[in-house]
Amino acid sequence: ANMPTYDFVIIGGGTSGLVVANRLSENKDITVAVIEAGDSVFSNPNVTNVNGYGRAFGTNIDWAYPTEPQIYAGGGRQIMRAGKAIGGTSTINGMAYTRAQDVQIDAWEQVGNDGWNWKSLFPYFTKSEEFQIPTRNQISRGADYYITYHGENGNLKVGWPSLITNRTLLPLLDETFNQLGVPFNRDVNGGRMVGLTSHPDTVDSTENIREDAARAYYWPYQNRSNLKILTNTFANKIIWSNDTRSEATAVGVEVKNSRGVQTIYASKEVILAAGAVKSPAILELSGVGNPDILRKYNITVKVNIPTVGENLQDQTNNGINYQGLEFWLGSPTFSVLPSANQLYGSNVSNVAAYVKSSMTEYAKVVANSSNGAVSEANLLEAFQVQHDLIFKSQVPYAEIVLLPILDSFSAEYWPLLPFARGNVHIKSADPSATPAINPNFFQFSQDLDAQVDVAKFIRKAFSTNPLNDLVGDEFAPGLDNLPNDAPASEWNDWVKSNYRTNYHPVGTASMLPREKGGVVSSTLKVYGTKNVRVVDASIIPFQVCGHLTATIYAVAEKVSDAIKNRYRI
Ligand code: FDA
Repeated sequence: ANMPTYDFVIIGGGTSGLVVANRLSENKDITVAVIEAGDSVFSNPNVTNVNGYGRAFGTNIDWAYPTEPQIYAGGGRQIMRAGKAIGGTSTINGMAYTRAQDVQIDAWEQVGNDGWNWKSLFPYFTKSEEFQIPTRNQISRGADYYITYHGENGNLKVGWPSLITNRTLLPLLDETFNQLGVPFNRDVNGGRMVGLTSHPDTVDSTENIREDAARAYYWPYQNRSNLKILTNTFANKIIWSNDTRSEATAVGVEVKNSRGVQTIYASKEVILAAGAVKSPAILELSGVGNPDILRKYNITVKVNIPTVGENLQDQTNNGINYQGLEFWLGSPTFSVLPSANQLYGSNVSNVAAYVKSSMTEYAKVVANSSNGAVSEANLLEAFQVQHDLIFKSQVPYAEIVLLPILDSFSAEYWPLLPFARGNVHIKSADPSATPAINPNFFQFSQDLDAQVDVAKFIRKAFSTNPLNDLVGDEFAPGLDNLPNDAPASEWNDWVKSNYRTNYHPVGTASMLPREKGGVVSSTLKVYGTKNVRVVDASIIPFQVCGHLTATIYAVAEKVSDAIKNRYRI
């Protein structure tokens, strides 16, 4: 039969995939196909409404992947949300636009990813961005920025929702958090993230609707004749050439849709952008991964990379809720990002020493739970980098999102850099089966301790004036149910029975040198393959302190340039 052939076939029309599709198809001579399991959500109000966070959850545009039972977290399963639509998870996320601390990106280069540092990524943050200058009204409600940190000519609209929470709030928060040693940070997007801040969102400030990857990178370009998106089409696996003399060479992607199973051919590359849960699973289904796992499902080993699907890092989210004594209108945009010093005060050196003395054990536990796929030495090196970032560089250690909404005032929070390392692996040769997702939440005592320590810090903030004047009773968990001096076991139980995933999975196809456990090189090419890349959240080797999309957009812009250079297009 006459099968369709494109230069590039991209699996996943989500946050990262649409950036790469857009950039490669800028050249009219280059043909690009995007395979997307979901459909258009262009006029879905659960997507477009800037105050609609959560409305898409559990609907048909949410993959809602169940995790494995979390053995360190009370044994229950979590639901890992992810968008199934043109635009991917950017169509259902919380829209916060925050990048990373500069030294976190520098750490990527420090461990051997040539050319990946804050300075080299910065032009791609700005390239992707169309910063919308806040109005006088928004500025009066806390919006603030340094224009030198921002791009004004990119695709992605970044700014503030039309109506930010009442203008009285910022001075009161500022006064409160100053007393806790956390100063105001006018703009977290210049590489320094610590402080109280009113961060921008991925919103179209004029239309007051969500700005997702599709609105930024696809819909305005949908008429390009060399760019084809196949919706409601599920990618099963990569198809390889029979030539076994050279590196594994992809010739296309097997897909399934209402017309049946067929192969979409790629003459240049197959690019995975199915997200941190699905991209490693697709690699395994295609024969790239840990031979011990692939053999269980009778999958022929094409490339032996035992770390595919390992190194999963996510965060854990809990909330504390107060009765509000004032009435709050508008969209909340305030976050507090304290460093370890600010959080722990004079106790910080004890915490740092405790973590340091535990890291050898952490590495042993993770190596064992990966059945040796991840080496202890590599883990220890990664933990050392993480320890330095937290305790020497003083990157933010937690994010606390302040949510004054109508007559309640809540705080949702997550420690930013847990030491837990999990994994994602197929548990069937059937591509439609959800893989086993095991983030190992609260694998280590410091991960759990931090979850409690931040809760206590929040209580301290809410009992400090003037913030204290704004709230009445704490109704969840409530001081009666969980007094401040409750024993650690009660605090831990509360955390474990109320937490949720923070939906920030990264690392499952980490960009690292191969001998350090990497799955992709510094051009995001899968080791041992000639023409397969991964470009999504999977490649981020260490968790970052920003929300993920800002970094994902920048990474996708950067790799697009690398691909264009490679083919001189
Ligand atoms: P993404 O998930 O965007 O794209 C993957 C695409 O592949 C999807 O479109 C999917 O349908 C498709 N796909 C998967 N398997 C396939 C297959 N087999 N065949 C065909 N297609 C397939 N970030 C942020 O910056 N600010 C925030 O406020 C938040 N808040 C937040 C809330 C919630 C609820 C979630 C779930 C996530 C966030 N995030 C966030 C995280 C952020 O949105 C997320 O990390 C990125 O959008 C992920 O981008 P990717 O390109 O990696 O995958």
